[in-house]
Amino acid sequence: MMRVAFLALMGLQLGASPGAGEERRSYVVTGDAIMQPLVGGKGDPARGAALIADRQRSLCTLCHSGPFPDAHLHGTLAPDLTGVGARLSEGQIRLRVVDMKWLVPNTIMPSYYRVADEQGRRVATVWRSKPILGGADIEDIVAYLTTLKG
Ligand code: HEC
Repeated sequence: MMRVAFLALMGLQLGASPGAGEERRSYVVTGDAIMQPLVGGKGDPARGAALIADRQRSLCTLCHSGPFPDAHLHGTLAPDLTGVGARLSEGQIRLRVVDMKWLVPNTIMPSYYRVADEQGRRVATVWRSKPILGGADIEDIVAYLTTLKG
């Protein structure tokens, strides 16, 4: 099955958060994965690890535990990300970070790069109150998580 999420309009203003103002590219969801990187170039795993450790910026460790610094601060609301790179493919991890709601409509996990809902409507407003990661940030995070094999 292949569904296309539509391109968000260019020049969309998303407030002052990191990644704001970046043009959001469309992506194609194939099954439960996004096979193509959101941006060109390879993600940087070291930067991805730093982003995940940055609670203010990514919020990941508010909910997830894993092989990250400050384990005593990790949340327990979500699956432990230890070994996630062995459980899920790169494309599966990418869709989960981009838009977990695609798979679990009532999830508490923020959609970090969602451009459209199931009907293809633009969903820009929901980002205003949420952490915003750019496509390159997400590729860095994906590159890091795929290294977590054990
Ligand atoms: C508000 C809580 C919350 C935040 C913040 C959050 N997640 Fe999640 N995440 C979840 C929940 C809950 C699930 C499990 C799916 C579900 O049941 O909703 C999940 C699932 C996942 C999965 C799939 C794991 C698996 O084993 O299937 C990945 C990968 C993931 N999150 C990565 C991230 C990353 C990377 C960040 C930060 C950029 C993040 N999450 C931020 C709550 C969160």
